[in-house]
Amino acid sequence: MIALITGITGQDGSYLTELLLSKGYTVHGIVRRSSSLERIRLSRLYEDPRIYGSRLQLHYADLTDTTTIRRIVAKVQPTEFYHLAGQSHVGLSFEIPESTCELTAMGTLRIMEILRDLPQPPRFLHASSREIFGTPTVSPQDESTAVNPNSPYGCAKAFATQMVRIYRDSHGLFFCNAICYNHESPRRGENFVTRKISLAAARICAGLQRSLTLGDLAARRDWGYAADFVDAMWRILQQSRADDYVLATGRSHSIQDLLQIAFSHVGLDWREHVNVDEKFLRPADPRGLLGNPAKARQVLGWYPSISLEDLLRMMVDEDCRSLQGVKS
Ligand SMILES: NC(=O)c1ccc[n+]([C@@H]2O[C@H](COP(=O)([O-])OP(=O)(O)OC[C@H]3O[C@@H](n4cnc5c(N)ncnc54)[C@H](OP(=O)(O)O)[C@@H]3O)[C@@H](O)[C@H]2O)c1
Repeated sequence: MIALITGITGQDGSYLTELLLSKGYTVHGIVRRSSSLERIRLSRLYEDPRIYGSRLQLHYADLTDTTTIRRIVAKVQPTEFYHLAGQSHVGLSFEIPESTCELTAMGTLRIMEILRDLPQPPRFLHASSREIFGTPTVSPQDESTAVNPNSPYGCAKAFATQMVRIYRDSHGLFFCNAICYNHESPRRGENFVTRKISLAAARICAGLQRSLTLGDLAARRDWGYAADFVDAMWRILQQSRADDYVLATGRSHSIQDLLQIAFSHVGLDWREHVNVDEKFLRPADPRGLLGNPAKARQVLGWYPSISLEDLLRMMVDEDCRSLQGVKS
């Protein structure tokens, strides 16, 4: 059981690494070179000499380094390949559409081409997104909902998702899409709205910040827990047949709901601290986004383990804890 993960330093990559190590896998991760060696989400594993360097190994490559990725795949010989890397911010994709498409669309195709050439291609999981549906005309959405993206990110994910289907159907490869709705955790990047909210609640409570500025407070999403989602990704690759699955909770909440849960958890009234600025509104914000996880429930036996309320409280608690570390 040898897994190769792109995006191992990200939110999902770090949870998936922990899950696979707990199941006895040897885990290899692809990391891109940056000016900092700090990989905060993996630090616990890094510091464990029984794991890092033996059951967990990292290899340098950017998603655009096709030759290097080919070399890593040849060396590692993974039995499972989890492709999680990419420019993962929808709003930002309107500002950097070229690199978003280069990494997320073409980057995925290049990896599939490398795998197709192998005598024994590994099972392949692509982290797709509900953004492929754009503003859907049906709610909830499932695996058969029409693909109709309305952001550069969604368009790049739609290309990659369709390519996974084509490679599965045309070349008989065990390639799968996990069509993920939003999933969050204390490890979520600080430029995502859930984390902005949990961090602001913690900081305002500690007297380190006065207010928080957001965009559309009525925007609704289907938010789940990242650790649950990577468990589903693993389950997808354990099936006897390759297929695509919608991963979602089937429940939607507004940003206002998130504010209420997070701020009241630390005894604050969010109305006294939150401002709205139009510059945070998306050029095209999709409505009616709600996933139908029935197939994942039925085939994978997968159910979300915690509610959004508990998830947000966990995020706020974790942010409060890390602020105490900063203050002391
Ligand atoms: N979280 C969600 O709600 C959600 C929903 C739908 C789909 N997805 C998809 O699921 C995947 C994982 O999401 P996430 O939340 O874990 O994202 P994330 O925290 O932003 O992690 C993205 C990962 O991709 C890596 N990466 C970015 N550009 C790269 C490049 N050019 N070469 C190599 N690696 C690169 C990042 O490396 P650095 O650490 O160096 O930046 C990081 O490890 C993404 O593809 C995302 O689009 C996520």
